[in-house]
Amino acid sequence: MSEAQWERTLTVTTAEQTHALAAAVGGVLEAGDLLVLTGELGAGKTTFTQGLGEGLGVRAGIISPTFVLVRIHPNLPDGPRPGGPDLVHVDAYRLDSAAEIDDIDLENTMDTAVTVVEWGRDRVEHLSDSRLEIDLHRAVGGEHPETSTGGVVMDFDTDDDDEPRTIVFRGFGPRWTEAPNILETSEYGGN
Ligand SMILES: Nc1ncnc2c1ncn2[C@@H]1O[C@H](COP(=O)(O)OP(=O)(O)OP(=O)(O)O)[C@@H](O)[C@H]1O
Ligand SMILES: [Mg+2]
Repeated sequence: MSEAQWERTLTVTTAEQTHALAAAVGGVLEAGDLLVLTGELGAGKTTFTQGLGEGLGVRAGIISPTFVLVRIHPNLPDGPRPGGPDLVHVDAYRLDSAAEIDDIDLENTMDTAVTVVEWGRDRVEHLSDSRLEIDLHRAVGGEHPETSTGGVVMDFDTDDDDEPRTIVFRGFGPRWTEAPNILETSEYGGN
């Protein structure tokens, strides 16, 4: 894979800030965009996707697509971006290869939607000549050092306690020659 054209790292301290940052990103996305979300279990990939959905103005109800691999959230005519792209939300955790991704036929919706793939790294890059990579990390050495050991997060508890996250954005391909302006700020959290 080619090199990223730019990289921006933002830190947030609450799930609400992750949501707000993602909503701002959703506001600048266009039909055809491909987003590849990476991060350990519970890092916040679905939380981020919910924020994207708000910024895109698509039908609510974004959940972890545990058994359903793909969900389409249509753009709402009375939302913030009427006539804007739909959101296609994919969880590729159980898909082992690009071949299995091809079976679910994302090409069909790519042109009219923003396609967001949790666990998409090394599985969906072939779908587009451009992509936005978003990596979410529990901030090791942050407010809850007891939850990590040598950088390996041991605590996969599912409670909703707010924790810091580091969110790294990377742009690839002609669509993302420049980082969006909304990433050039620390207004979302604790940078
Ligand atoms: N700063 C934060 N950003 C995002 N989520 C946070 C943050 N702090 C705490 N959380 C909590 O962490 C959990 C993240 O869950 P989420 O389903 O978004 O993760 P995920 O990466 O999609 O997990 P999976 O790998 O199971 O799909 C939520 O319960 C959320 O409230
Ligand atoms: Mg998820």
